[in-house]
Amino acid sequence: MKKYNFNAGPSVLPRETVENTIQAIEEFAGTGLGLMEISHRTKEFEAVVDETVALFKELLNIPEGYSVLFLGGGASLQFCMVPFNLLEKKAAYLNTGTWANKALKEAKLFGEAVEVASSKAANYTYIPKDYVIPADADYFHITTNNTIFGTEIHTDIDSPITLVADMSSDIFSRPVDVGKYGLIYGGAQKNLAPAGVTFVIVKDELLGKVSRPIPTMLDYRTHIKEGSMFNTPPVVPIYAALQTLKWLKALGGVEAMYKLNKEKADLLYTEIDRNKLFKGTTAVEDRSLMNICFVMNEEYQDLNDEFYKFATAKGMVGIKGHRSVGGFRASTYNALPKEAVIALVEAMQEFEKQH
Ligand SMILES: Cc1ncc(COP(=O)(O)O)c(C=O)c1O
Repeated sequence: MKKYNFNAGPSVLPRETVENTIQAIEEFAGTGLGLMEISHRTKEFEAVVDETVALFKELLNIPEGYSVLFLGGGASLQFCMVPFNLLEKKAAYLNTGTWANKALKEAKLFGEAVEVASSKAANYTYIPKDYVIPADADYFHITTNNTIFGTEIHTDIDSPITLVADMSSDIFSRPVDVGKYGLIYGGAQKNLAPAGVTFVIVKDELLGKVSRPIPTMLDYRTHIKEGSMFNTPPVVPIYAALQTLKWLKALGGVEAMYKLNKEKADLLYTEIDRNKLFKGTTAVEDRSLMNICFVMNEEYQDLNDEFYKFATAKGMVGIKGHRSVGGFRASTYNALPKEAVIALVEAMQEFEKQH
């Protein structure tokens, strides 16, 4: 049976990414050797890193003065690397969910870390908007897409201080005005590649300002200087990321992807709002284009498990909501075809007819 992969991450990747990576694992770039069995310092692999950096810059229109890095440790390591490198006295955080909270917790190890606003009391169903960014903080940290709760900051906000963003689950889903950010990071395992590589886009001039010593491996300057080759980088995920970026470019880049993502999300949110059995869980204006959360309406709560089984039997995979929200979550990342969303909508309609 055909499967529709709505997993929240790791998640669906373009067929081209999977196929080209398999091919390179067998035989890489005319070397006669497999991608997993060569030195990362070969000219062939260095070319992969260079091309991936170049495509990051091109597709996100990254201005001069920024470096693109590929590191290990996941986005979770960035929760501590960011304050290690940027927090001298004080940092400000917007608390929009589990991941934002985890980032804030790490920052507190390095200095004063203030929560400028939080939607925790409402189980993170909206993005706080009325807050003041403290002018005396070293940076302001946001999570642009809240994977678990299904909210998203849809615009590149104006911050009077350095803006740092965790874009793990919405990078490359829409155009971003990178110049408004000092640092953007994320794990690759949603819109880019298999797990194992973390991307960091950092404005070079922000570095080297803190007074604490930074371990070599955790200092962004090390990786800038060595072109992400200070130690052995995650070779296969970087190669896969390059394939995804080539696929994205061929489709028309982030503008085209944004249009498609809006179409997919519109289809599903429209059905959630129309269908008598379901309702959305978040403020309408903050609805994520990447992680679409919904639950059964009060009077149909007892149908929750039944719908899950019904949709699973129709090929839907990964639609169970995170335990902190319940219900359902359909992740509609770049590589999820529109056809999958249509199949889910049809399943919701058919289920409604039966009840
Ligand atoms: C927004 C966000 N930030 C951070 C993380 C953690 O990423 P990693 O597992 O790469 O540490 C996730 C994982 O799902 C996420 O969705």
